[in-house]
Amino acid sequence: MKNLMRMRTSLVEEVQNILNAQVEIEGNASQKYLAMATWCDRNGYKSSAKYFYSQSEEERSHMMRILRYVLDMGGTVVTPEVKMPKQDYTSIRECFEVSLESEIFVTKNINKIVAASREANDFATEQLGLWFVKEQIEEEYIARRAIEMIDLLDGESMFVIDTELGNIRAQAPAPFDAAEAE
Ligand SMILES: [Fe+2]
Ligand SMILES: [Fe+2]
Repeated sequence: MKNLMRMRTSLVEEVQNILNAQVEIEGNASQKYLAMATWCDRNGYKSSAKYFYSQSEEERSHMMRILRYVLDMGGTVVTPEVKMPKQDYTSIRECFEVSLESEIFVTKNINKIVAASREANDFATEQLGLWFVKEQIEEEYIARRAIEMIDLLDGESMFVIDTELGNIRAQAPAPFDAAEAE
């Protein structure tokens, strides 16, 4: 069975394993953002909630992008377990701190995909990985900028802070053709 699977795909086992790990990571990221969205929503931060809901959808689309890729390449995917993320936050700032920490973790794993695909001369997977490299520039930037803005807006009403955070995506830079990333 295993040999047959190997013949069906040009993905080497290590690369496929790393891609499956990334499917799980993106799935968990989606759940984390959903938890932040609901926390913001029930605490009246409607604009920030909207951002986190859309971010949750985006992470799911990342999971699907990798899952589809592995299947299109003839590989085997593992649909990940849903883990319960942190439900309670002390502040909106904490949401973005957790977000930044999580995005840095994601970036490191994306780099593993690129490194492993280069090692295996797997240029198709390298291309997939490079799309995510660009995407991560945006993701890290937004979380970092949000924390910065919360600190700069210190003293403003929470309504003003929430409204500004609702537009945080527009603050993201466009490094090389990141426009094609989501
Ligand atoms: Fe992602
Ligand atoms: Fe994004």
